[in-house]
This record gives sequence, C-alpha cells and structure tokens, in this order.
Amino acid sequence: MYVSDLALTDFRSYAELLLSFEPGITALVGPNGQGKTNLVESLGYLSTFSSHRVSADAALVRAGAPRAIIQTKVVRENRSALLELELVSGKANRARFNRAPLPRARDLAGRLRTVLFAPEDLSLIKADPDGRRRFLDELLVLLSPKLASVRADYERVVRQRNALLKSAGTQRRSGTSLDLRTLDVWDDKAAAAGAQLIAARVQLVNALRPHLAHAYEQVSAGQSEARMFYRASVARAMAGQDGPGGARTSGFEDTDVEALTQADVVEARLLEAMAHLRGKEIERGVSLVGPHRDDLELFLDELPAKGYASHGESWSLALGLRLASYELLKADDDWHESSEPVLILDDVFAELDVRRRDRLARLIAPAEQVLITAAVAEDVPEVLEGARVDVMGSVATRVR
Ligand SMILES: Nc1ncnc2c1ncn2[C@@H]1O[C@H](COP(=O)(O)OP(=O)(O)OP(=O)(O)O)[C@@H](O)[C@H]1O
Ligand SMILES: [Mg+2]
Repeated sequence: MYVSDLALTDFRSYAELLLSFEPGITALVGPNGQGKTNLVESLGYLSTFSSHRVSADAALVRAGAPRAIIQTKVVRENRSALLELELVSGKANRARFNRAPLPRARDLAGRLRTVLFAPEDLSLIKADPDGRRRFLDELLVLLSPKLASVRADYERVVRQRNALLKSAGTQRRSGTSLDLRTLDVWDDKAAAAGAQLIAARVQLVNALRPHLAHAYEQVSAGQSEARMFYRASVARAMAGQDGPGGARTSGFEDTDVEALTQADVVEARLLEAMAHLRGKEIERGVSLVGPHRDDLELFLDELPAKGYASHGESWSLALGLRLASYELLKADDDWHESSEPVLILDDVFAELDVRRRDRLARLIAPAEQVLITAAVAEDVPEVLEGARVDVMGSVATRVR
C-alpha cells in the first residue's frame, strides 16, 4: 500500500498542509526543527493511534488550536480509501472512513499500515518493558485490528481493578470486613481480555522470531544470533515465583509456548494466579499478573540485549525488530491478511555507521513506499534516490 495524499490541519507545527506522494522513495529534507518529524508522525499516529515521541496526545494538537485533523488517501491494489482522524484536546478522537463516521475512532487503526524506524527505537532494547509491550501491541493491531479494542478494554479494566484493590487494602487495614464479590467480577473481566492479549502476543512472537533472526543477520552481517522470548508473568506466578518477570515461552527454561497461544487456557491460568495472589494484590493495591506485567526478552546468542549489547548491536537489533515487523506484515501468510506497509524512517541514517546504513538502505529500497526524513540530503544513501520534498518552517515543497 502507499499514501497518495496527506492533509493536516493544526497538527503539531502545521496550521495547514497539503502534500501528494508517489509510490517509491520520498526524502523529506530540511534543517532541524522545521517540521519533518511532525509530518511523518501524523502518518504513524493514524496507523497505530500512538506517537513514537509522546504518550499524551495533547502535544499533537497545534499550540492554541482546539483540535487537529489528519486526512490521508491510501492506495491499496489500485483501490483508494480516505482516512480521517480528528484529535480534540481532552476528548475522544473522531474518525471517518471513506467519509462515513466510525462508531469508535480506534476502528480506523490498522487501515493504514506503517512501520516506523526512529532514533527512539533504541529504547526498545535499552529501556523498560513498557516500550517492548507497546511494540508488540502496535504490531498486533496492524495485523488484526479488532485487538485495538481488546487492548483498550484491558487497560480500562486494570485501572478499575487497581482502584478496587486499593480501596480493599484501605478497608482491610482499618479492620472493616471486606466484600470481595465485586473484585471477583473484575478478575473475570481482566482474565478474559488479558488472556486474549497474551495469547495473541505469544503467537506474534512465534511468528516474528524467524524474521528477527534473519533481519538481524542481514543488518549486522551475522556476528551473533538474535532471539526473542515472551516472558509471561502468569506462568511465573503459577510456578510460585511472584516477583517481576515470568517464565519464558521458550528458550532456556521451561517451555510452555503451546499452552500460552490458547486464550482459554491462559484465561484459566490468569484466574488461578489472581486467586493465588489476592492477598498480596490487596496489600499492594495493584494488579500483579497479566499482560501489563509481561516482557519481550531479547537476546544476542546467550546474553540478554538489555545491559549487555553494545551501542551498535543495540541499533542493529532495533532495526532488526522493525524490519522483522515489515516482513511479517507483507508476508503472504494466511493467518492474517497480508499487505505491504509504508516504511517511514525518521532521521535514522544519521545515527548509523556506514556499513549499517548501506545494508539497511539496500534492504528497504525495493519497498512499495518509503518516506525518509533527513536534515541534509547527504544523509540519504544513494541507493535511495527518489522524490524529494523540502521542509522549511512547516511548509513542505516538492522539489523533485
Ligand atoms: N503542538 C505543537 N504546536 C506548535 N508547534 C509544535 C508543536 N509540537 C511541536 N512543535 C514544533 O515543531 C518543531 C519541531 O518539528 P519537528 O520535530 O518535525 O522537526 P524536524 O524537522 O524533525 O527537526 P529535526 O531535524 O531536529 O529532527 C519545533 O519547533 C516545535 O516547537
Ligand atoms: Mg525530526
């Protein structure tokens, strides 16, 4: 698929933008702070409903404006579709598909498929599990859009369950007798949504694993083998280890992969684990088991990437994860509908050494559409010669 048109109204620094694209490569070039990232961020947001830079949507609306609008025309197999999203500060987003309003804005998620590479990806390797969970969930939503609402449901349920656990803790400490029936209801809801998410993530990790190994080998020239494991807090809780983390789904310790791909099995285990942990959860006032406590562990050979991988290795692994996502999305796999995503590279080449730069460039050059941002044209490798748009003071001008 490719984006043929983009219109922005009051998005970030853009009061108004109208820009057309063609399939193939387009470089967006301009000095720092001129609006290159803002422009591609709008497409990333429309695709996954999250920004690669901020977690709160407020910064996406132009300062002083009441709302931002992103509109794009997306072409897929010669058929075009119009995607529109309105972000209103402090209110729910509104979306339209081919001009028809959608009941829920998140129903638009996944209609535009993008894979975005950015300097922020380094934190996928180096930082907390949160970013890695988000990486998995965003990819899941692109692969099967109905999971967007499962994910939103789960987050809401955990917030409410935590509030209930907290008040149960207060009651217990003050010696009031506890009525735990309401908590049972929230356990059921959390287990049902949580199990769907875990099972989908484990299936995704299994599908992604060979693509990651292959992609890492290609960008790093095969110095070591990249591996990934889903660490499920529910498996660990059942093994009697209640601390952070959880058993891996495969690899160096117990192998439980098959069981964790089945939502009904996971749901039963989550319920057991919640029953087992109830005292502790009430004491701490937080939900201790579920997809929000899981991690995606990355290894280079036998060593965990986090804390061990060098800067260059971390970069290769981050690129590997994005390239693996791209391969999985475009794979002709009957598990999900396939469609080649739009590749977006925000300021990536300036960060890479010459070898990685060239390898990455050659890998992505044949893609259906690639959008690259760079402060200077020389940062864009020669094999990625294509259309060029100059970006200056939040005005984008096609120059080639
Ligand atoms: N909500 C907003 N309202 C108004 N201006 C904003 C908003 N968010 C960001 N900006 C402005 O947009 C500019 C940054 O744009 P952007 O991040 O796209 O730059 P860039 O061209 O990618 O630069 P670099 O090469 O440094 O990455 C900043 O000057 C910032 O102040
Ligand atoms: Mg930028």
